[in-house]
Amino acid sequence: MSAPSNPATGPYIDPRVTVLPRTVQLTALHTIMRDKETSRNDFIFYSNRLIRLLIEAGLCLLPFEDKAVTTPTGTHFAGKEFSAKLAGVSIMRAGESMEGPLRDVCKMVRIGKILIQRDESSPSKEAKLFYCKLPVDIHERHVILLDPMIATGGSAIKAIEVLRQHGVKEENIIFLNIISCPEGISNVLTACPLVKIVTTWVDDSLNNHKYILPGLGDFGDRYFGTE
Ligand code: PRP
Ligand code: URA
Repeated sequence: MSAPSNPATGPYIDPRVTVLPRTVQLTALHTIMRDKETSRNDFIFYSNRLIRLLIEAGLCLLPFEDKAVTTPTGTHFAGKEFSAKLAGVSIMRAGESMEGPLRDVCKMVRIGKILIQRDESSPSKEAKLFYCKLPVDIHERHVILLDPMIATGGSAIKAIEVLRQHGVKEENIIFLNIISCPEGISNVLTACPLVKIVTTWVDDSLNNHKYILPGLGDFGDRYFGTE
């Protein structure tokens, strides 16, 4: 996969990957999130703002149909209407932080949960599955998969495997994430070539402990206050 540099959207160009435009606003939000001095309160507040932007971008990849309406002026507006069944699925724990903003935008959306944790004692940080509860008709739905970080991609790959086992079509999965890196994106797309990824930022690399650089540290610990 080629990765030509593009200062507007970051370094990662692949038709399956949407990177939010690198506006000054987005950069300012990232500056707060990544600062190690940022308080937990601000970390939560600004991650909610970033997640909201991410969700609005992700919804653009869902199917819409034409819909014409009449305005109060008696004239027509040729519009669009969302036309599919949707579910959100969070990869716990950190993905739970994205459920609230998803509910703010998609009224009464069904939410499934998959608990996957990296084994921090293994050199490859292998992702382990502990729990899964999904809407019974998940196989009929488009799935917004939620996790703020893609490092090795192992957690996302495991979650997509679980969704596939429950009958979800890979092409109906949109994976939303705040910070990714080339290695993780490449691993996810190799294992799950039909999935679409939407990310707010593609970072440079992983360190020896498979943490994203420059990254923001451990998202779950900073969000839930377990540092
Ligand atoms: C973090 C993060 C992702 C995963 C990314 O979760 O939220 O799920 O690591 O790493 P990977 O791409 O290498 O799998 P973690 O397992 O630390 O658990 P947490 O959500 O409880 O913080
Ligand atoms: N999980 C995180 O929260 N941060 C990383 O950099 C890697 C995995």
